Amino acid sequence: MALASELEAVRAPLPRDVRVAPSILSADFSRLGAQVDEVLAAGARVLHVDVMDGHFVPPITFGPLVVSAIADRVHDAEALIDVHLMIERPDRQIAELARAGADSITVHYEATPHLHYTLAAIREAGCNAGAALCPSTPAGSLAEVADDLLDLALCMSVDPGWGAQEFIPHSVDKIRRMRRGLPDGVVLEVDGGVHEDTAARCVEAGATLLVTGSAVFGAADPAAAYRAIVAAAGAG
Ligand code: DX5
Ligand code: ZN
Repeated sequence: MALASELEAVRAPLPRDVRVAPSILSADFSRLGAQVDEVLAAGARVLHVDVMDGHFVPPITFGPLVVSAIADRVHDAEALIDVHLMIERPDRQIAELARAGADSITVHYEATPHLHYTLAAIREAGCNAGAALCPSTPAGSLAEVADDLLDLALCMSVDPGWGAQEFIPHSVDKIRRMRRGLPDGVVLEVDGGVHEDTAARCVEAGATLLVTGSAVFGAADPAAAYRAIVAAAGAG
């Protein structure tokens, strides 16, 4: 265990009010900085970064290099980088992602047999610690770590791996059951198929952090699309 003095500075706490978090997975990577600036200027205060390894999920995306490439502009806007790891052996990447500028790191319950250890390592690295559940994983699966080690719980409302999938309707009931079982201090995030028509149902069920990829960056005007989802969700 590292001493507190050896750790990175502790990141800002996650917002407690309802927020929409654009996912850069659907951004135009040839002009990533400009796309990030567009949603920051529209008011986004959480940017979601999907890391995929070609093993836990078939696609390969990006890692710490992309986090560090956007970190300054995100932090200058007093926004947070919310990293969603869809990778095996997530504990190997924590220190580097924290150094790159991640404010929260979420690992999959299904990807590590040592969730307790991994969440503790994320906090030790100075980041908010998150755990995600795939659609088929029971809602109560985080009960043993929720009180002591969890800052964020993520309900996947699609199978992880790709943007622009259909929202799984059963997720609304799962969000409700997850919220009921979590301490008040744990932020509940929903990810997958969230857009103008599904956002309000997620909020009503208890989610406060709403990830939106294709609905924002797939639109002709990402800032306008972001604002429309914020309005539909009643978010800040
Ligand atoms: C999917 C990713 C999502 C993705 C969501 O596995 O975790 O964050 O970007 O994309 P949309 O909002 O298009 O479903
Ligand atoms: Zn995600």
